[in-house]
Amino acid sequence: MKPTRLTKIILVILGMIGMACLIYYYVQGNEDEHVKGEQTKMEQSKYPGVDIITDTFEEETYHKAVHYPKFKEQVLNTEMSKYVSKMEQNFYEELDKHDVDLLKERPAQFYLTFDIYPVTDGIYSIVFYEEAYFGGANARLNNKVFLVDLKNKRYIKQTEIIDDTKESREKIYNLLLNAFKESKEYGSFLNEEYLKEWIENKDHDFSNMFLTKESVVFKFDKYEVTAGAAGMPEIALPFKEVREILSAEWVDKLNAQDSSDENEEAERDEQKVKEEEKEIEPAKDTSSKEKRVALTFDDGPHPKNTMKILELLKKHDAKATFFMLGSRVDFYPAIAKEIAENGHELGNHTWNHKDLTTLSSEMIKQEVEETSAIILQATGQEPTVMRPPYGATNKEVESVVNLPSILWTVDTLDWKTHDPQAVLEEVKKNVRDGSIILMHDIHETTVKAVELVLDYLEENGYTCVTVSQIL
Ligand code: NI
Repeated sequence: MKPTRLTKIILVILGMIGMACLIYYYVQGNEDEHVKGEQTKMEQSKYPGVDIITDTFEEETYHKAVHYPKFKEQVLNTEMSKYVSKMEQNFYEELDKHDVDLLKERPAQFYLTFDIYPVTDGIYSIVFYEEAYFGGANARLNNKVFLVDLKNKRYIKQTEIIDDTKESREKIYNLLLNAFKESKEYGSFLNEEYLKEWIENKDHDFSNMFLTKESVVFKFDKYEVTAGAAGMPEIALPFKEVREILSAEWVDKLNAQDSSDENEEAERDEQKVKEEEKEIEPAKDTSSKEKRVALTFDDGPHPKNTMKILELLKKHDAKATFFMLGSRVDFYPAIAKEIAENGHELGNHTWNHKDLTTLSSEMIKQEVEETSAIILQATGQEPTVMRPPYGATNKEVESVVNLPSILWTVDTLDWKTHDPQAVLEEVKKNVRDGSIILMHDIHETTVKAVELVLDYLEENGYTCVTVSQIL
């Protein structure tokens, strides 16, 4: 049959509908695949104009945890995203070279996290740490520094700050050599020859250098100038000591910070007094007859989801335990404080969510102690329990960490299903008196799940208490 004008039009319309459906499913499918949609939203942090993006993903062959900043000024995000994508791409390329069955036994791990240091007047140092593990020992470690100037919407080059002359390089060498020698942490690991080669290398432009409020910090890669056991050393040189190597413009800029020292000290003293005044709340008296469960929330705090969960807990007069990441408490101290003020138990989940069983005891200590310190700073309380990321622990970890290591008895798989109903089903199936239930307050879908779970537990005569009350 010869197609008429009408059938042609109908065919074209059908074709267009088909295309629209394809595009719709493609977009939907992609959203489902990366359930991280919620995490690309802008979230307020304590640093104006800077937000944090968290992207975690776990599957059989690998675990991924990526944190990076997002700036209100879009023009600054391009370079940062490029770096993050590049690092992810490197990881996936390496992953492809490994045997799938072996990976299933011991999943590869990829962490990209960062520290942020306010310097002065809208200037921040962003220091990335990249770690990738493929089957235990063969870790890949990398650093990357970005110096960002939010006011002028640009990245600053280290060579704008340091006068890169032969003379100043000599000075830097001597300053670093002295600082290394005085350092208890790195002193014995320094290779002076390597340091000399490093300073004489004309190709490097101090791209590993960053600023804090009071110092110029030189960050080194593993093995760059020290033995491997030193990890990635950081040498901080106070501004007063390095004035001679700074460009005139930056001597001015950085000196502006000098007078604030005293104020900060006074503030710290005040805080101390407050801490001492604070009384320890007595533990809630719970009768031994009732059934009790401990809800636990990992990987937060999260500015929106944690707050919503706190509301739900309050409504049900329920107490929970929050295993927080130091890196996120650093970003959201107010949320951590809110958790503490609501009477929940504070847990340490390490600084950067690394598998502790792959670290040296020094590094384990650092991961845990820095996290306890930031939790104390944010909330005025020390964490009382610790949960090793991935539940990965061993005798060494236990002996180094002086907090009780808490795992879980019910894994709700909230991070995997992102389905509140499925989370409830896991709880229904497995909960009993004394259960420790694992959830993650960084996921939006977990908020709804918590609502369902709290209703269910209440209807079935459970009281929600902290982990320490269960133990
Ligand atoms: Ni975790």
